[in-house]
Amino acid sequence: MVIQNPGSLVDRLRLAKHVVVLTGVGVSAESGIPTFRDKQTGIWEQFSAEELATPEAYQRDPSMVWGWYEWRRSIALRAQPNAAHRAIAEMACKAPRMTLVTQNVDDLHERGGSREVVHLHGRLTQPVCELCRSLFPLREGTNDQPQLGRRIEPPRCHSCGGRIRPGVVWFGEALPESEWTRAQTATCTCDVFFCIGTSSVVYPAASLTRSAMNMGAVTVQINNTSTALDSKVSFNLRGPAGVVLPALVKDVWPAI
Ligand code: OAD
Repeated sequence: MVIQNPGSLVDRLRLAKHVVVLTGVGVSAESGIPTFRDKQTGIWEQFSAEELATPEAYQRDPSMVWGWYEWRRSIALRAQPNAAHRAIAEMACKAPRMTLVTQNVDDLHERGGSREVVHLHGRLTQPVCELCRSLFPLREGTNDQPQLGRRIEPPRCHSCGGRIRPGVVWFGEALPESEWTRAQTATCTCDVFFCIGTSSVVYPAASLTRSAMNMGAVTVQINNTSTALDSKVSFNLRGPAGVVLPALVKDVWPAI
């Protein structure tokens, strides 16, 4: 783990009035959720985003796309929150104000104790009707063992009979407006901004870090590999989020 000027970061965090935390899938990696862009193991190294994560792909082959998202939901269902999720929830209790914004579609932040999570890219557990946008209730514990590559016919809406789609944002789609507004507003008013476990290459989410810099916030990156932001953030903490974050929270707010 490499921490540059850790003492000074601890001081800045102790003085912070509003902390924003932006997370990516790296935060869930230690829970067994596959990342997107890590070499060899990343989802987009093995699967084609065009064939699985666009509105066009769903129109072309709904049962393949629905089956693939059910496979991903089954991985998330079996996963447990890790030390990074728990440290972020703890930080929200210690800081005067914290806003948690995630690109993740799993619910590990919530199960790790976080409340009011801003989900920029939607949620695997909240599929919606393509026609009337009603939420489709998933039965607890269903689909806990779907196989990769299995086609599954998408269910039909209980209200209007329309086809249900995964509750995630696909490439080419806009982010949910209220979530995006909340993320932008929080970013503009925070004094410390974290980006954790994200490659920071997917926009508009990645633009939040740049906005925080422009607004004069202290910026902190936590990542186990290098990114284009390494030399731009105020503090670049290199290491697994599940190790770096609990250590940082303990340093800033030691238990009394
Ligand atoms: P990426 O896979 O692009 O980036 C994950 C980052 O986490 C990488 O920089 C890894 O080095 C880092 N990482 C991996 N394990 C880590 C660990 N234990 N601790 C700290 N860092 C770790 O995933 P995202 O940035 O989340 O969008 O991807 C952004 C979006 O691209 C996703 O939300 C998804 C995807 O396409 C949609 O599906 C719309």
